[in-house]
Amino acid sequence: MQQFLSVNDVADVSQLVEEAFLLKQNPWSHAHLGQGKTLGLVFFNPSLRTRLSTQKAAWHLGLHTLMMNINQEGWAIETRDGVVMDQAAGEHIKEAAGVFAQYCDLLGVRCFPSLVDREADYNETVMKKIALYSGRPLISLESATVHPLQSLADVMTIMEKRRRARPKVVLTWAPQVKALPQAVANSFAQWVLRTDCELVITHPPGYELNPSFTQGARIEHDQDRAFEGADFVYAKNWSAYEPYGAILSEDRSWTVSEEKMRRTRDGYFMHCLPVRRNLKVTDEVLDGPRSLVLNQALNRVYAAQVVLKRMLEHLR
Ligand code: CP
Repeated sequence: MQQFLSVNDVADVSQLVEEAFLLKQNPWSHAHLGQGKTLGLVFFNPSLRTRLSTQKAAWHLGLHTLMMNINQEGWAIETRDGVVMDQAAGEHIKEAAGVFAQYCDLLGVRCFPSLVDREADYNETVMKKIALYSGRPLISLESATVHPLQSLADVMTIMEKRRRARPKVVLTWAPQVKALPQAVANSFAQWVLRTDCELVITHPPGYELNPSFTQGARIEHDQDRAFEGADFVYAKNWSAYEPYGAILSEDRSWTVSEEKMRRTRDGYFMHCLPVRRNLKVTDEVLDGPRSLVLNQALNRVYAAQVVLKRMLEHLR
C-alpha cells in the first residue's frame, strides 16, 4: 500500500479487516518491521483517539514517531499558491511539507474542511499538496471529506459483533450545536457499502450527503422507521452538503434514546467519539450494555497498525 487516503486505496476490505484481527491477537508479531523508520504525525486540528491510537500502532511495529500540532505549536501555514504572504501565515505548505519529508519516512496528516469552500474541500486540496510537496507515503488521519482509519475500525467492530451474515446498519444524523464536517458520515457509508451489510441512512430532509459516497444505501427520512430491525445504529452529526456547511436543524427529537433503540433488533449503538452526551445520545444508551464506543476506540489501534504494516512492507 503506497497511500491510505480513502477506501479506494484498499483492494479488498475483508482481507484488510482479517489482517487487522491477526494483529489484534498478536500486536508485537511485526515489532521489527518499522525499525529505523520514522512516522510523522501532523495535526492541523485537535485529536484524542487518532493521535494516541496511531502512536500506539506505530510503537507495536517498532516505528519512531514525530508529532506536530500545526497552528498551536508551529507557524501558521499558508496553503494557497501564488499569494503575497503579508497576513498571519508565516510558512507555506510547500516548504513545511518538504521539511516533514526530510525527517520522516511516512506521514499521517489530519486536516479538516473549511466548510466554506466546498470545491477546495471536496478536491482535498491540502492533503494533495502535502502528498505532492513531501513525496512521502501519506495516511489520512481525517481529511476534509473522509476519515478512513475510523471507518476501518468501525467495520472491524461490526464484523466482530454481527449476529447474522448481512446485518442491517443504520447511520443516523443526530443533533449538534455547531457545524461539523461530513467526513465521518461519508467515509462510514463508503466503507460499509464495501462490506456485506444493508445500509440505511436517516436524516432530516436537506442533510443528503454527496451521493458519490452513499450510492447503494437506502435514504429514510423517518428515523423511527429506519431503526426498525437494525443490528447497529451509528450516530453522527454532519452539516449540510447543500448549502455547504449550513446547520439546517437542531431538532432534539433526533437524539438517540433508549426508547428509539427499542425499535432495533436488540441493536448495538456506535459513535466515533467525541460525543456530546444527552444531545446526540442519552446517557442511558451510551452507558448501556449495547454501546460499542470503547470497542471502536480500541479497534482504532489495529486499524492504524494494519495500514502502517502494509505501507512499511511496500517501503522495503
Ligand atoms: N474519532 C476520532 O477521530 O477521534 P479524535 O478526533 O479524538 O482523534
